[in-house]
Amino acid sequence: MKKIILSPSALSCDFANAGVQIQQAKDGGAEYLHLDVMDGIFVPNISFGQPVVKSLRKCTDLVFDVHLMITEPIRYIEDFAKAGADIITVHVEACQDVEATLKKIKDCGKGVGLSIKPKTPVSDIVKYLPMCDLVLVMTVEPGFGGQKFMADMMPKVKELREYATANGLSYDISIDGGVGCDNAKLCVENGANILVAGSSVLAKEDIKDAASKLLAAAMAE
Ligand code: DX5
Ligand code: ZN
Repeated sequence: MKKIILSPSALSCDFANAGVQIQQAKDGGAEYLHLDVMDGIFVPNISFGQPVVKSLRKCTDLVFDVHLMITEPIRYIEDFAKAGADIITVHVEACQDVEATLKKIKDCGKGVGLSIKPKTPVSDIVKYLPMCDLVLVMTVEPGFGGQKFMADMMPKVKELREYATANGLSYDISIDGGVGCDNAKLCVENGANILVAGSSVLAKEDIKDAASKLLAAAMAE
C-alpha cells in the first residue's frame, strides 16, 4: 500500500502570511503543497501564476504539486518547471495533444500528472496512464475551493487503482475537492494515496492541528 500524503492547497491560504501558514501545515504532517493555477478560461476563476510559485519556493522545501487549470498548458510547462514545480498536473480536457504535453513535463524532469473533471470518465485517460506518475481525480467542478465533496467519484478512483494493479503501473492517485476528516478514509479505501485539502487545512484557525487530524482520519483503521 502506498504512503498517504497530505497536499494542502495554497488557494486557501492568506498570501500575506503564506510562509508561516505553510510551515504550520508541514508541522502537522503535510509533505506536499498543492498549487492551483487558474486562467479564467478553462475554469471560471483566476488564481495565480509562476511568480507566486517562485516566491513560495523560497519559503518551503515541501514537494510542489502544481495543478494547472489552464487551456493548452503545454505553453507554460517550462515556466512552471523553472518556477519550482516538482510535479505538474494538467487536465486531459484542456490539452489538444495530451501525449506531447505529458512528454514535455517529463522532458523538464518533473513528475507527470494528469487530471479528470467530474464528468470525464477514466476511459478518456487510459491510454495515457503508462506515462503518468500521478492521476488527479476531481471531486468538485474545478475552479473554486470550499465546494462539496462528490462521493460518487469514488468508483473512478477504484477503477484507476485496479487498473494500476492489473497493469503493473505505480502512479499515485490524488483526490482534489472538498476533502476533509469526514471523507478522507473513504478516499484511501478506494485507492487514493494523496489528499489535496484547501478549506479543511489552510483556511483553519489551527492549521497544524487541522493537518494532523486530517492525516489521522485518513489513516484510521
Ligand atoms: C479546485 C482546486 C482545489 C481547491 C480545493 O478547483 O483544484 O485544489 O483548492 O479546495 P477545497 O479543499 O476547499 O475543496
Ligand atoms: Zn487543485
